[in-house]
Amino acid sequence: MELKTLKIEAEKAVERARDLDALNNDFKQYLGKKGELTQVLRSLEKLPKAKRVKIGQEANALKNNLRIKFDQKAIELKEKAKQEHEQKEWVDVTAPGKKPVLGHLHPLTQIRRKIEEIFQAMGFTVVEGPEMETEWYHFDALNIPKDHPARDLWDTFYLPNGLLLRAQTSPVQIRYMEKNNPPLRIIAPGRCFRHEATDASHEHTFYQVEGLMVGKDISLANLKGVLESFMKRFFGENVILRWQPSFFPFVEPGLELLMKCSVCQGKGCFTCGNSGWLEIIPCGMVHPNVLKAAGLNPKNWQGFAFGMGLDRLAMMKYKINDIRLFYSGDLRFLQQF
Ligand code: PHE
Repeated sequence: MELKTLKIEAEKAVERARDLDALNNDFKQYLGKKGELTQVLRSLEKLPKAKRVKIGQEANALKNNLRIKFDQKAIELKEKAKQEHEQKEWVDVTAPGKKPVLGHLHPLTQIRRKIEEIFQAMGFTVVEGPEMETEWYHFDALNIPKDHPARDLWDTFYLPNGLLLRAQTSPVQIRYMEKNNPPLRIIAPGRCFRHEATDASHEHTFYQVEGLMVGKDISLANLKGVLESFMKRFFGENVILRWQPSFFPFVEPGLELLMKCSVCQGKGCFTCGNSGWLEIIPCGMVHPNVLKAAGLNPKNWQGFAFGMGLDRLAMMKYKINDIRLFYSGDLRFLQQF
């Protein structure tokens, strides 16, 4: 190849090289052991002397020249690579921060707070009672004598220490009346336990919100008023309610407030046992024996009590058809609230 063409091509190659690898390949092609310029130099000996000297000088000059160009380009490319690397390492202080994943309150906690808020607005105080109870507070004082069959209504866990795990929050009624003089208005949210097989609407651990109002002239009308307005504030004005008689040893008369099932809109589903209605608040007028057990004279004082299932309220509010989801710890479920 003509030296002139070789020069032009080699210089173009140097210019074009984007990185050190490409430049190395170009170097090999022209100046390597088998490179094109090297071959020209090797073939010199075959030429007649006059030509040999002339072309030899030119070829050597070109070789030196090209080497310098390759070296310069190599320095440039190294510098470029270094800069690129630094750019990657660079910290952009103006970049928006990464959001840490924040948790939120469990749906049952949110519901409990909502219930507390509504009752507090109606003048009720929020109180608490122990999860381990004595038989006295849990049964006897609530008008359920020792061998009364009504005890079987609560599938109770008995503890080796003689206490039991409360299966209802009603003992808080007694504890509060013992220590506080009427008139009084309280709610007592809390965890309850029952020795029960679990299914879509039963858990061995669940929450109740007990309510108690005692005063001079408290009547069934007050009970209805308070619970109906609670339901309307909790579910909205359009909630459809129904009352039916019921039995609990610690109330007389006993009642049950039902609402149209929100999961199936009353058509019947397994959440409401196909009835279209859900028993949502068992309640009634406090039995005189209960007032007596707590040291109050039933001639002077009357009251009503209720014990709603917090889980059920949450299920109706969010249209959830399986109570076990609340305790599953499944984030795919919990993150929806
Ligand atoms: N403690 C009852 C239960 O768990 C519910 C209830 C409370 C009923 C207060 C009437 C009054 O079954």
